[in-house]
Amino acid sequence: MNKNIRLVVPAELPKVAILDKRVNKTPWNMVQYEECLANKNQQVYVLEIDEVICGFLVVAITFDEVEILQLGIDTKYQGQKLATLLLTEVLAKLDDKILISKVFLEVAANNDSAMALYRKLGFTKISTRRGYYTIDGMKIDAIVMMLKYT
Ligand SMILES: CC(C)(COP(=O)(O)OP(=O)(O)OC[C@H]1O[C@@H](n2cnc3c(N)ncnc32)[C@H](O)[C@@H]1OP(=O)(O)O)[C@@H](O)C(=O)NCCC(=O)NCCS
Repeated sequence: MNKNIRLVVPAELPKVAILDKRVNKTPWNMVQYEECLANKNQQVYVLEIDEVICGFLVVAITFDEVEILQLGIDTKYQGQKLATLLLTEVLAKLDDKILISKVFLEVAANNDSAMALYRKLGFTKISTRRGYYTIDGMKIDAIVMMLKYT
């Protein structure tokens, strides 16, 4: 199994948006992905296995802080520590350039698997945004989490 983590190329954005829609309850649409690529402070990374895109990670960088905006691993590849690999490798790459101080993210309060992943990586809850997401017609809180990186 040949794994590769790299920046997306623009022609691959539709594939990423389709994968995002398949795995995420709050996916981004193509307009959001295109705006993201046009924003010099945001980056989209993909995880390929044998040249097939099976995961993605979107980050925003503000000075020495990183925010995780979107993350997903294709269903059939979940449970193989690929999200752990993608997050740790991308953060290490960014740390080489900007010396990260903190990493932030928001996760839906009912997304137990993502929350368990982030806790395992050392993230802790710092606040709650009441009713931030609308998922399947229901208002769900966002849990804001932070990792002190240095
Ligand atoms: C959340 C997600 C990215 C995890 O990807 P993954 O590659 O399966 O995660 P990993 O294999 O690296 O898991 C690492 C740890 O996360 C936790 N975890 C991951 N999936 C889990 C699940 N289904 N149930 C409980 N804990 C889970 C576990 O602690 C796991 O460690 P362990 O395997 O030693 O128990 C993936 O399930 C996904 O794409 N979900 C849909 C999209 C999503 O929720 N994105 C995050 C939005 S904030």
